[in-house]
Amino acid sequence: MRRPIIAGNWKMYKTLGDSVATAVALKSLVANANHCEVIVAPVFTALKSVADRLEGSNVKVAAQDCAAEKNEGAFTGEVAAFMLRDAGCSHVIVGHSERRQYYAETDTSVNRKAQAAVTAGLNAIVCVGEDLTQREEGIAENVVRGQITGGLRELTGSDLDRIIVAYEPVWAIGTGHTATPEQAQEMHAFIRRVFAERHSESAADKLRILYGGSVKPDNIAELMKQPDIDGALVGGASLNADSFAQIINYK
Ligand code: PGA
Repeated sequence: MRRPIIAGNWKMYKTLGDSVATAVALKSLVANANHCEVIVAPVFTALKSVADRLEGSNVKVAAQDCAAEKNEGAFTGEVAAFMLRDAGCSHVIVGHSERRQYYAETDTSVNRKAQAAVTAGLNAIVCVGEDLTQREEGIAENVVRGQITGGLRELTGSDLDRIIVAYEPVWAIGTGHTATPEQAQEMHAFIRRVFAERHSESAADKLRILYGGSVKPDNIAELMKQPDIDGALVGGASLNADSFAQIINYK
């Protein structure tokens, strides 16, 4: 009922040429993957070229961030959500833990960015997740609840159609320590409950919740068997077209 999404976050990797080459290779490897939506998120400078080369294919394009401001203006270094749409993006990642950790992203800015994305007609992949200390202290659910209530504060019911949540425990990102399918399922079910409380059962039921953190070809199938895991946000293993295609073709 919920169509899975497998998204590749290329982070600050790949030149323009490498981004296009990987996208083109991926396009043919996943041409028959109808069981899920496929998304790649290259660096800003490669978005337009990648989007052009993927036009008409089943691979969509996401940016990795957007400005909190909805309109153009004197905001040096920022790129507005509507400009990303103009460059061929259908999605944007918002609030990735690396942005929270290194670039002072807060729930307040995540909220503004998610709003800007939805207003521009983009789908926002909003990232949440606790760090290792928070998990060890037993406050992971509270942290994630806070990120949802703060980061999606102004979200209305109709905006929800354009929101995808990515649960990415910080301790699992780029570390090789994937959350177990059970750990991930438990948090995904919790996130869905939070949306049911805040919005409605039916909205929560429709919401797609992706898992992220050391997803690889050999662990995707187990993760995808969990009832509340609706896909994956993949970093390292998405950089290579073959390994990313293996993840996408997990079935
Ligand atoms: P990883 O990154 O798959 O390399 O752990 C995931 C992410 O940061 O989105």
